[in-house]
Amino acid sequence: MAKLRASPSGPLRGTVRVPGDKSISHRALILGALAAGRTTVTGMLEGDDILSTAGALRALGARIERQADGRWVVDGPGLGSFQEPGGVLDLGNSGTGARLMMGVVATQPFTSFFTGDASLCKRPMARVTDPLRRMGAQVLARSGARLPLAITGSEESTPIEYTLPVPSAQVKSAILLAGLGTAGETTVIEPEPTRDHTERMLRRFGATVRVKDEIIDGKKLRYVTVVGEPELRPNAVNVPGDPSSAAFLAVAALSVPGSEIRIENVGMNPLRIGIFDSLREMGGDIRFENRRDQDDEPTADILVKASRLQGIRVPAERAPSMIDEYPVFAMAASLAKGTTRMEGLAELKVKESNRLAAIAVGLKACGVRVAEDGDALTVEGLGGAPPGGAMVDAALDHRIAMAFLVLGLSSKSAIGVDGTETIATSFPGFASLMGSLGASIVIPNR
Ligand code: S3P
Repeated sequence: MAKLRASPSGPLRGTVRVPGDKSISHRALILGALAAGRTTVTGMLEGDDILSTAGALRALGARIERQADGRWVVDGPGLGSFQEPGGVLDLGNSGTGARLMMGVVATQPFTSFFTGDASLCKRPMARVTDPLRRMGAQVLARSGARLPLAITGSEESTPIEYTLPVPSAQVKSAILLAGLGTAGETTVIEPEPTRDHTERMLRRFGATVRVKDEIIDGKKLRYVTVVGEPELRPNAVNVPGDPSSAAFLAVAALSVPGSEIRIENVGMNPLRIGIFDSLREMGGDIRFENRRDQDDEPTADILVKASRLQGIRVPAERAPSMIDEYPVFAMAASLAKGTTRMEGLAELKVKESNRLAAIAVGLKACGVRVAEDGDALTVEGLGGAPPGGAMVDAALDHRIAMAFLVLGLSSKSAIGVDGTETIATSFPGFASLMGSLGASIVIPNR
């Protein structure tokens, strides 16, 4: 497996852009394929996860090509004109790709087979197959509805009203995509709002999506309704930089003394930026400039200066808006003065790895005191550089790999990470981009 080593580095300085948003890139390809005609996408994330989704859509009959100027062109067959894939749809490491594509094929009158890598084949899929079955799809799966599995779509699918049992934008999106191929109105009820890129982009492609908040028995619920069988219009999509990728740079710049960086054109969707609220609460000097809208998503440039951080309590309600950022946030917590407690982290156990466990094991190896209790994680911050000096296993998880490399930049001794090839799923060029800011992240000699 590929290894990288991050060593204590001088101040990080410079102005950079991070790769395109992973969530938005998946949706641009999928909606491009569902709209008959030509959709163009700029700023696309060219990571392995997105290439897996592109491969699955090609197998269904979409033509997807990258042009020499970096623009991606999607020639969509359109909703209802997909063909039965001739082989197994392999979504690699991508939970988003697998779950959204299951929603797409759930209303197509043929059988699609899904698989993925060792990480994806462990992840729970019943959260998607249960509602899709209720809509009429037939699913043949092994225990826990884990991959590999097969879905035979129903042409006569039934619209449903479905309350999400877990706060998951992937599940919501799978149901809304199945709702597109279903006559009538399909509604997803969210007890906790999750990222709304699907809703925003569906509207852009011409679908009718209604969103309303209601208080029922003192609890706020969000109703998201899509009207089925729309005539989707092909579109031009500009993908902003991924705030989840920017978070690694932000924590690195906060942690390495003397750093000052600017990250341009980062997505600022309010349901994605809980990490920046949390880091600012810790005392992080993070500013937003040049706020604007790019298509239907807000963006900004982010300025980050090295700061002394204080431990905080991160409430469970914030978890959906920073769900992918806990690995790198835990690194910031280990440098902060005092205790940081993060609550409501059950979903972290079913990501690309069991992130709760992977964070705890890695931090302990780096000399940081950390405790897992139930769905919470407590990190005893050292108020300065942790010892480091460990080799951490990435556990097939790109965000675990990048989080510990970030920690290595401000540790007393270098941190090695084993299994770094997975970084290419979401952040190709991570080590060289960090290097351009002054970080030392290299392939170790032995
Ligand atoms: C994503 C939703 C989140 C997130 C994932 C991307 C999406 O997963 O962790 O990286 O694009 O919808 P869940 O919906 O399972 O929380």
